[in-house]
Amino acid sequence: MQILTKNWNKIDPLRIDSYIKTGGYESLRKAIREMTPEKIIEEVKKSGLRGRGGAGFPTGDKWDLAAKTPAKEKYFICNLDESEPGVYKDRTIAEKNPHQIIEGLLIGATAIGAKKAFIYINGYYRKQNEILEIALEQARGKEFIGRSMLGSAIDIEVDIFQGAGAYICGEETALINSVEGNRGEPRLKPPYPPVAGLFGKPTIVNNAETLANVPFIIKRGAKTYSQIGVSGSPGTKLFVLEGAVKKQGIFEAPLGTTAQELIYNSLYGGGMASGKDFLFAQIGGASGRLVTAGKLDQPLAYGAGEYNLGCGSIFVADKSTDLKNLLFSWADFFHRESCGKCVPCREGTYRLWEIAKRIKKNEILKRDKENIEDILWTLSNTTFCPLGNFAAIAWSDAMKMFGKEIFG
Ligand SMILES: Cc1cc2nc3c(=O)[nH]c(=O)nc-3n(C[C@H](O)[C@H](O)[C@H](O)COP(=O)(O)O)c2cc1C
Ligand code: SF4
Repeated sequence: MQILTKNWNKIDPLRIDSYIKTGGYESLRKAIREMTPEKIIEEVKKSGLRGRGGAGFPTGDKWDLAAKTPAKEKYFICNLDESEPGVYKDRTIAEKNPHQIIEGLLIGATAIGAKKAFIYINGYYRKQNEILEIALEQARGKEFIGRSMLGSAIDIEVDIFQGAGAYICGEETALINSVEGNRGEPRLKPPYPPVAGLFGKPTIVNNAETLANVPFIIKRGAKTYSQIGVSGSPGTKLFVLEGAVKKQGIFEAPLGTTAQELIYNSLYGGGMASGKDFLFAQIGGASGRLVTAGKLDQPLAYGAGEYNLGCGSIFVADKSTDLKNLLFSWADFFHRESCGKCVPCREGTYRLWEIAKRIKKNEILKRDKENIEDILWTLSNTTFCPLGNFAAIAWSDAMKMFGKEIFG
């Protein structure tokens, strides 16, 4: 079953009519003309849709909270920041089928009663930004956006907000700060954005892939959607497969598919690339766990298994992988992307990066192992937001798996 990739390469992303011909915007029409906001939320709740931005939070519950929080103004934001290294699924949806995201966003905004919506896009994604600008303009021309949408009493305006490409601005409260013109730093939670978000008003931030599922749910019904994937984690997922596999790229598969299948099945990765021996798979981007061959057979689904599915990327390392360089690349990324708001992350990621730079050059000191363990504990337990924890995940697994090999 394909929900997200079905029309890729079939429709012209620059022509709205080409999306409409495939049944596009029928779900928005149905949501506006045949459903109440409560009914839309009920349907999304019943579908079991969970957020694809990493945490897997139930989408309908979030919408319900924002809908029920009394306020004159509410906001709806599509998160298209996607700054995790090796992950490019959201920007690919924007490139191949931008209206599927926009339609999901408009249905969500209708459901919570938001008159203003944003697509928050990483400023480096110029091509996708241009495609989305054109798509929004064409949707306005068809009365899908703007005043009295489709002849109803609903008014929703949608704007694009370009971020500066900081990883932390993918975190919803940092993103909200950035839209307000403040420093892209996370806020203390609670209050959560559905209660007090942009300009203190109820705000939904949803990942672009999450929103791209919504038109299908409204058109085909929650029951059909909930039967795809696994119980508690329905639907399909875009998996980004990179590294030492035969076929790299984006594959859509039902949630619950195992990493074993994604790497070895000919429908997906097709097995290890010629001459490469499997070492581990890193699941969920630079902040993902390192998974050994014996544990690849666990279902990849939200709230299931030993490791987090996160944004759904899988990087396959083989036995020729330069581990010291890989350790450095993780430390380099997180020390660069730490926003600096809290000391344990600002200092911890910097010290780890300093040590990693030396390890890469084989300049290993006696106290390095102990210092690394100290830093990893601090990052895992004391930072203000999850970015600090993320910086320690792959390093902690690598220390357990290869610590002896590296430090003797
Ligand atoms: C450091 C950090 C970076 C994040 N980056 C992204 C991102 O690029 N895109 C995204 O959708 N969510 C990202 N998130 C998760 C968001 O905070 C939020 O949970 C998500 O956008 C909610 O959408 P969803 O419920 O549809 O998953 C990030 C979280 C953290 C802690
Ligand atoms: S953990 Fe890192 S990214 Fe998060 S607030 Fe602290 S310094 Fe900023």
